[in-house]
Amino acid sequence: MSDSDFCAMARAAQAAIDYRRAIAAADTTPAATYADILAAFDAPLPETGGDPDAIIAELIERATPGIRASTGPRFYGWVIGSSHPTGVAADWLAAAWGQNAANVVAAPAASAVEAVAAQWLLDLLGLPAEASVGFVTGATVANFVCLAAARSEVLRRAGWDVEGDGMFGAPPIHVLIGADAHATVFSGLKYLGLGAKRVTIIATDQAGRMLPAAFEAALKAAPGPVIAIAQAGQINTGASDPFAEIAPIAQAAGAWLHVDGAFGLWAQACPSRAHLTRGVELADSWATDGHKWLQTPYDSGFAIVRDAEAHRRAMAISASYLPPAADSERDPSSYVPELSRRARGFATWAMIRQLGREGVAEMVERCCRVAARIADRVGREPGIAVILDPELNQAMFRFGDDDAATIATIDRVQADAIAWIGGASWCGQWVMRLSVSSSATTEHDADLTADAIVSAWRAIRDLKGRE
Ligand SMILES: Cc1ncc(COP(=O)(O)O)c(C=O)c1O
Repeated sequence: MSDSDFCAMARAAQAAIDYRRAIAAADTTPAATYADILAAFDAPLPETGGDPDAIIAELIERATPGIRASTGPRFYGWVIGSSHPTGVAADWLAAAWGQNAANVVAAPAASAVEAVAAQWLLDLLGLPAEASVGFVTGATVANFVCLAAARSEVLRRAGWDVEGDGMFGAPPIHVLIGADAHATVFSGLKYLGLGAKRVTIIATDQAGRMLPAAFEAALKAAPGPVIAIAQAGQINTGASDPFAEIAPIAQAAGAWLHVDGAFGLWAQACPSRAHLTRGVELADSWATDGHKWLQTPYDSGFAIVRDAEAHRRAMAISASYLPPAADSERDPSSYVPELSRRARGFATWAMIRQLGREGVAEMVERCCRVAARIADRVGREPGIAVILDPELNQAMFRFGDDDAATIATIDRVQADAIAWIGGASWCGQWVMRLSVSSSATTEHDADLTADAIVSAWRAIRDLKGRE
């Protein structure tokens, strides 16, 4: 390695620090588009190498104009955390240490830190201490892993070895899922041969919560192995399924209950919001993210399974060249689909260590308060309708009386670049949807954001009035 290699590392670190120091004032819409950045990077394959420090300088210069300020305080487009500097610093070390966190021998510290972070997570989220945790890329893969464990166990109980014999000829599995489930859960069903279309859809209420009576009736009509998929935190409304009611019903029927709790499961870590997920600990598996409410850098998700044996059966890899872990040790790759993998436990450990139980609770509560404050201020403006009062960190608004006015207002807010907020279809109508999930967002940002929404709407309304 040359001096230039180390200069490149120092340059990257300094550029990252400078970027994050200035983030609060950054426009939420980047100056450069995808096409601009493509043009800036477009070049034939280099025939020869280059100087490391100069290459990193080139990367910074060309990419920075196209970096979205999603780590800033007023990015509400999706549930995206702020990649907190402490988590980033831990993640830099994970990269610099270059650990392949597959197993204890290859990466003893990464494996041990992951084991500790796993126990802290279970404690923080109020989940059973005996559950196993796989550190994956995000909730999409966490859902997949949990559903693989579910498939393994419900088929094992039916006398079928899915890991050995696959799905051909296996007893059919009935999958029950709420009408407002997240799209990525269907990806998990697709990957596992369970079929994204071969599901029984359970009716939901106006906030997207499963109706317990509909759930019970569907379970009664589903003979044989059953996997029921619930959620904590509907992507538009933030609503959670009524776990205290549906979990005992699932249990009595011998169904595996999985919970997609990508962000909503974090209500568990906040005493003032924990009533929203009451009973969630009764489920069999839970998917959640670190890169949302825990503020770890991308990518970070957790696949949590009550029955650790089912989890390992679905995921563990063995080969003669891979040294087995001792009974007192934990190989990270036994709980995830990959063998070679990033040491994600360092960033998770660092974020929990930095915030502590109280810091996580305060942050979750503040995000919820900000969502309610924005909704309250925006809702006072004539012509703006608040769709459901926020109970968690999500808010939805409709402008005027047609989709066009709502779409135009969203475009206007994005163009003004004070806040970035997107849209979605909810109950057949286009709405502005806002997710508050950054530890950087404060009440002051709430007020700036509400003002930006109201002034964008007034501009659109006046424009419409003149037409
Ligand atoms: C409820 C829910 N499930 C799953 C996902 C997918 O998570 P990820 O993008 O981390 O894979 C999300 C993402 O927003 C979500 O909100």
